[in-house]
Amino acid sequence: MPVSDFQMVEAWTKVLKLSRLEPRQNVTILTSSATHPQTLATALIATQSMGAVVNRLDLPPVNGEKALSRDSLAYLGTTPLTGNRAAIAALKESDLVLDLMTLLFSPEQLDILKTGTKILLAVEPPEVLTRLVPTEADRERVLAARARIARAKEMRIVSGAGTDFRCPLGEFEPIAEYGYVDEPGRWDHWPSGFALTFPNEGGAHGRIVIDRGDILLPQKCYVNAPIALTVEQGFATRIEGAIDAQLLSEYMASFNDPEAYAISHIGWGLQPRAHWSTLGLYDREATIGMDARAFEGNFLFSLGPNNEAGGKRTTTCHIDIPLRHCDVYLDGEAVVRNGVVLDR
Ligand SMILES: [Fe+2]
Repeated sequence: MPVSDFQMVEAWTKVLKLSRLEPRQNVTILTSSATHPQTLATALIATQSMGAVVNRLDLPPVNGEKALSRDSLAYLGTTPLTGNRAAIAALKESDLVLDLMTLLFSPEQLDILKTGTKILLAVEPPEVLTRLVPTEADRERVLAARARIARAKEMRIVSGAGTDFRCPLGEFEPIAEYGYVDEPGRWDHWPSGFALTFPNEGGAHGRIVIDRGDILLPQKCYVNAPIALTVEQGFATRIEGAIDAQLLSEYMASFNDPEAYAISHIGWGLQPRAHWSTLGLYDREATIGMDARAFEGNFLFSLGPNNEAGGKRTTTCHIDIPLRHCDVYLDGEAVVRNGVVLDR
């Protein structure tokens, strides 16, 4: 159901206050052809009402002819900022960038963050944004999970469906996504609510069974027949199963890139206001599936790049897969059991 402009202005104001926006700071709102008009209009009002100096930077879309879907996270690599010195300069000079376009996983984003600019991605539809306005409690919970990951040398994931998967840790810093940007140089995504890291390069191994009811993104579908992934030396080397496995396999093969099969981020959902069932209620083009990524207790893993964490892999393929009913262990200690987070 729609939300009012007033509700969206209130939601933006909460997020901007949590992000410590101060009067006279420079905000640049980054837009493209798929930006939601209500999200943009209300961001303009909220930022100006807080006394910020506000710009809007609208960039033409890229890669539409290469991607097989309209999802903004489905095809990575170049962005409208690639080679765009004028736009990069404007963003580097901003205190805060509201990314209503999707810059994720681009080297330009990392360069801009290094200057101290904060970047907040917000591309879900307004009613999802208003339901999932972040809180300080979200932050504390996600930061605690990140600190727990930072102390661990191994993440192991086991499930009744047949998953038994091990990832050595330590090469890459863990990341907390809690939905706002309260530190200089911080990137985050509203909405979110999860902690993640990346396995040591070449170290992930075992078997992952994507069970009936688990979700594939950007396909934005619930799996109907289990898909078994064999993971060796950091890569999915076999994708086995019935029709869902064939669909996943064929889609990944279309990128013609061995790096597409690398294990990317791993972590678990910590957002109680996100729901596993939401995806089934939405038109696939109306959402990027943040409920599916963030719902509490899911084990979220990804296939594709690790440059977000400072790794070398930059494949354009990016698949996120939240699994239900997993046990997640850090150095043998359970942090999630059968899809229930054990931090309370
Ligand atoms: Fe991902």
